[in-house]
Amino acid sequence: MTGSSAAPAVDLRDLRISVDGTSILAGVDLTVATGEWVTVIGPNGAGKSTLLRAVGGLLPAPDAVRLFGTPIGGLRRRDRARVVATVAQSPVVPPGMAVLDYVLLGRTPYIPPLGRESAADLAVVHEVLDRLDLAGFHARELATLSGGERQRVFLARALAQGATLLLLDEPTSALDIGHQQEVLELVDQLRRTHGLTVLATMHDLSIAGEYADRMVLLAAGRVVAVGTPREVLTDRLLAEHYRASVRVVDGEHGPLVVPVRPRRQ
Ligand SMILES: Nc1ncnc2c1ncn2[C@@H]1O[C@H](COP(=O)(O)OP(=O)(O)O)[C@@H](O)[C@H]1O
Ligand SMILES: [Mg+2]
Repeated sequence: MTGSSAAPAVDLRDLRISVDGTSILAGVDLTVATGEWVTVIGPNGAGKSTLLRAVGGLLPAPDAVRLFGTPIGGLRRRDRARVVATVAQSPVVPPGMAVLDYVLLGRTPYIPPLGRESAADLAVVHEVLDRLDLAGFHARELATLSGGERQRVFLARALAQGATLLLLDEPTSALDIGHQQEVLELVDQLRRTHGLTVLATMHDLSIAGEYADRMVLLAAGRVVAVGTPREVLTDRLLAEHYRASVRVVDGEHGPLVVPVRPRRQ
């Protein structure tokens, strides 16, 4: 079966993942339309990272995951990398590596086995570094960057890969609120200019709701709610699945979730 442009970017049917006999995802159904931004929320251990890893082809789910209409099991590794790029929750940073070399790793699927990067690969990398305001950072070692700069470099590597589906696992958890907004605005701008589709996970619920077209609430490996931020970010759902005491107030770009200390019983 081949993909088609009319097919959703992501189509999950009864996605089940178990590790050592323990069920982590217990039958997840989800579609993400091309160009859409969908954010998965849920308490720690709900299975958010596992879901993104399965969509990115890092966990075996050959038939349950379709990307742009093609079952992921039918894509070879290099072809898959041209379709979907992941920014992991805590990417492994090779010691001593410079920014330029790290972002160039994103071009691996285009470099022939035993070959070297071409001038075109380098041009893509320079273009991405410029676009992400990293032009002055080419020779800097990754370990010497600030959290916000490093997060932009991780994003640069994913963009250099040329994939149109971006999987972002807590892309802003390490950042202060200013840098959180900067990174998410950048992703949203790239989504509009480059027709990217975004599937993300996020812990800050207010920020998650401001950027997502739709949200998915995952709890214990199951989808317990899906819909617009207004439909998913409700006092009732958050109390039930996070055991959190919150107040949800209307904001300009979606609901804002304010934690409030529970009343003494
Ligand atoms: N490789 C693994 N081996 C065993 N358990 C795992 C593994 N990866 C994830 N888990 C378990 O699966 C559950 C979901 O993990 P994860 O997807 O990382 O959740 P989240 O990202 O929502 O916090 C957790 O209980 C976690 O301990
Ligand atoms: Mg996680």
